[in-house]
Amino acid sequence: MDKLKVLAVFGTRPEAIKMAPLVKELQNRPGRISCKVAVTAQHREMLDQVLELFDIKPAYDLNIMLPNQTLYEITTRALTGLNEILEQEKPDIVLVHGDTTTTFAASLAAFYRQIKVGHVEAGLRTGNKYSPYPEEMNRKLTGTLADIHFAPTTNARDNLLKEGADPGTILVTGNTVIDALMATIRDNYVFGDPVLDGIDFQKKRVLVVTTHRRENLGDPLYSVYCALKSVVERYPDVEVVFPVHKNPKVREMAESVLGGLPGVHLIDPLEYSPFVNLMNKSYMVLTDSGGLQEEAPSLGKPVLVLRDTTERPEAVEAGTVLMAGTDRDVVNRACTELLEDAGKYKMMANAVNPYGDGKASGRIAAGLEHFFGLSDRKPEEFTV
Ligand code: UD1
Ligand code: UDP
Repeated sequence: MDKLKVLAVFGTRPEAIKMAPLVKELQNRPGRISCKVAVTAQHREMLDQVLELFDIKPAYDLNIMLPNQTLYEITTRALTGLNEILEQEKPDIVLVHGDTTTTFAASLAAFYRQIKVGHVEAGLRTGNKYSPYPEEMNRKLTGTLADIHFAPTTNARDNLLKEGADPGTILVTGNTVIDALMATIRDNYVFGDPVLDGIDFQKKRVLVVTTHRRENLGDPLYSVYCALKSVVERYPDVEVVFPVHKNPKVREMAESVLGGLPGVHLIDPLEYSPFVNLMNKSYMVLTDSGGLQEEAPSLGKPVLVLRDTTERPEAVEAGTVLMAGTDRDVVNRACTELLEDAGKYKMMANAVNPYGDGKASGRIAAGLEHFFGLSDRKPEEFTV
């Protein structure tokens, strides 16, 4: 083989953020690798924000998103569209990321054509098939279909080994999310947005909130938003900045419980740069996101995770992330404690970097070259 033909496939905001540094790295090796991008566009506006920021121009765009889409719709529309793309493109390997339904459908589409699958952010597990749902099953099935696993941490590698993966197919790389973060955080960042620039981050304690998990829709979100309402009503120096996910079920609930409350800013999803710089200026983060559990610890921001399980135990062990769940009283208490108890806050506001060192993309690119025999040298793995 003189040139490795890679097709990177993704569809949602977090996949795009985490694949962007890798796509750039692969496209910077034109002598040995050609890399094209196909997007399912399982997300539309939230994906486009990221493509524009990182200047990624997909060769293929399936534009599959539907309002309030079901898992069946995402899976079948992605699978059918990708079949045609793979027939035309005939890549040596399809690279997928993480655990979305796009990820699983793309792995399956590649497998049906006996095309190799490389899984980036491989090996994360909660061990509970319904939490997060459907992500735990998406990543397990993708792991089963994958030929090469790029595990972000040694813990993720160990999960794969326990499931019987061949050690020779696993490379511990760090998470590309830290590559993206390091390239984006700036001191003295100015948002260029009247709401965000109007907040006095010295005088106000800003809580950054995001929610979107399917298993939290309905009562769990109601309960979390009631806890937040109680917190802002009790603490005049607290402001909540909540960039609300585009999912109509999230938006309706957020608006009905928190809309119009003084001290609460319900805003549209932010572009990636203002969003991570907002986290960097905040007091703490409350979220059910996966990616934020990686980003906030490396910025030294305490995180309350609004879920019962996590596939990212490293920052919990390091003490920066606390599992709060979605019970109204528990979330209220955990939040209150971090607002009242300076010692507890200080213990959690500790910058830790268990997820990466900013060099994951380079390791993955070098790992691909080694796997396909373009280089003799296996790259050094990421260690904390
Ligand atoms: C999806 C992924 C989840 C990932 C999350 C990141 C699945 C099943 N879920 O969940 O793993 O953590 O993305 O955010 O793969 N919408 C828009 N515009 C957008 C994006 C979404 O209008 O740009 C609305 C649409 O009505 C869409 C709905 O949000 O139907 C839900 O999107 P979907 O991708 O199904 O679920 P997410 O919760 O975003
Ligand atoms: N993010 C963003 N704008 C926002 C909220 C989040 O760019 O308004 C970024 C965030 O920095 C992280 C990613 O989106 O990199 C997380 O995406 P999400 O929470 O939707 O998905 P998950 O990580 O749970 O799969």
